[in-house]
Amino acid sequence: MVLARILRRLRSRSIVEVTGVSEQFIDHMDVFYKRLAAIGGRYVFECRSGTCLSFIELPSSDYQAIVAAPGLDVRNPSQQGKMNGYTLLPPPRGDRILWCGKTKPDSDERYGIILGYCANAAVVLDEDSLLRHILVVGSTGSGKSHTAARIAMCSSRIGFKPIILDWHGEYEQLLGRHYAGDYTVLSYPDLPRVAFTSSSIPLESSISVLERTLDLSPFQSSILAAFLVLATQQDAATAKGLLDVVVNHIERDEVKELMDTLKSGNTVHELIHVISTVFNKKRNDFTRAEQEIWLALLRRLNIIATSRYANIFAIRETKELLKTIHIDDYSPTIVRLDTILSLRIRKMYAVYLLQMLYTLANTNGTRILVVVEEAHNLLDNKVVSELIAETRKYGIGFLVVVHTPRILPELSEANFNTIIAHRITSVNDRLVIAKTLGLDDDSILSKLEEGDVLVRRHDMKTPLLVKVEHKAPCTP
Ligand SMILES: Nc1ncnc2c1ncn2[C@@H]1O[C@H](COP(=O)(O)OP(=O)(O)OP(=O)(O)O)[C@@H](O)[C@H]1O
Ligand SMILES: [Mg+2]
Repeated sequence: MVLARILRRLRSRSIVEVTGVSEQFIDHMDVFYKRLAAIGGRYVFECRSGTCLSFIELPSSDYQAIVAAPGLDVRNPSQQGKMNGYTLLPPPRGDRILWCGKTKPDSDERYGIILGYCANAAVVLDEDSLLRHILVVGSTGSGKSHTAARIAMCSSRIGFKPIILDWHGEYEQLLGRHYAGDYTVLSYPDLPRVAFTSSSIPLESSISVLERTLDLSPFQSSILAAFLVLATQQDAATAKGLLDVVVNHIERDEVKELMDTLKSGNTVHELIHVISTVFNKKRNDFTRAEQEIWLALLRRLNIIATSRYANIFAIRETKELLKTIHIDDYSPTIVRLDTILSLRIRKMYAVYLLQMLYTLANTNGTRILVVVEEAHNLLDNKVVSELIAETRKYGIGFLVVVHTPRILPELSEANFNTIIAHRITSVNDRLVIAKTLGLDDDSILSKLEEGDVLVRRHDMKTPLLVKVEHKAPCTP
């Protein structure tokens, strides 16, 4: 029973004396709370640092009132006899009412999607929530992918292009089972090519992806950067300047020749070809240590070139992505990352794909919702964290799904405007998420059933308990 639980909570904060309320009074209040819920108001109960507070939140801020009703008279044992106890309204008897209310009083929720229901009231995620990033957390089997699939599918009804980076290959079945609309599935070998360089991403960010995944030293990264600038064909003078630094000196004609080779193709093979051409010409000028560094770089690039996945990477951007994902129709596109068996390459592909989607949203004016599963694989990358921090400006929202929130970098948590928490069994993860949700007591997170979530946006005082309903209509 809720009342008993709340009393337990109060006691655990060393508040012992609870008087002044009868069961009959609680019954009366319960009827009142049900009526309140029907008009979109709610009972709110918050405990922070040992002090609990209850109040009634009305749907419109014009009518907010402090309700001074007789309730639970709570006193602190250390202050017995003094008159500084406080009064709590008796809590409603059902969990639902305790956590329900209007999700966001001032937003226009006609332009949003229904996530699910809280005591018959639709809980809506508006456009702004989608663009300001959503974090879905929960233990294995708690319903995260189902929730993400619903949000993605429904977002397409309000003018978003959902793109699902499907790490485990489960979304095709999820969408097929629960939703009627069309969707496109892309799998290897027909994945769109992603490019190492992107017009709206600074080169140092692009390079840092290769640097991390191929484990390159700073010197190897600068060699690679020089050749990638050359590959973009835009700035011969800068390319020559960078090459001059890494090979001491290079003639203008040689630079032109390298550019032509790179122009003749757009694959990792051309890149390796030009790097080895320069290396072979200059190797006698290099020290033994320098030779080793160049050779190690070539060996690392060969990991991609000799793998079966060489053809899903390009050096320069192509228009392929734009065509394959059908950016202009709003049906979801599922990118089956699981069909890339090498984890190192899968991760690299995903990061470059995100980079290209960012460019696409930037230049195309389309609003994109990107679903990222197993996000810890990508969020440890500076580039992705930076994209997430910046993209809300560019019409691209992220829906990030994780099962172990405590391994997320601290910064990324702050970037999510909406947190949707499913059941969490690990105590450490619960504590992290309870804090983010503004819950004093994390135990409720361990008791949620499949599809039950606690939702909190930054502008809400307390989270809402919501049942995610797959059969519900997408829009209000
Ligand atoms: N809204 C819901 N209502 C009822 N049942 C649900 C709901 N969402 C998910 N489930 C059930 O919960 C189970 C797990 O769902 P799902 O695969 O989405 O969990 P998950 O958190 O993504 O798990 P994993 O961590 O293994 O990927 C499924 O059997 C599904 O039927
Ligand atoms: Mg899942």
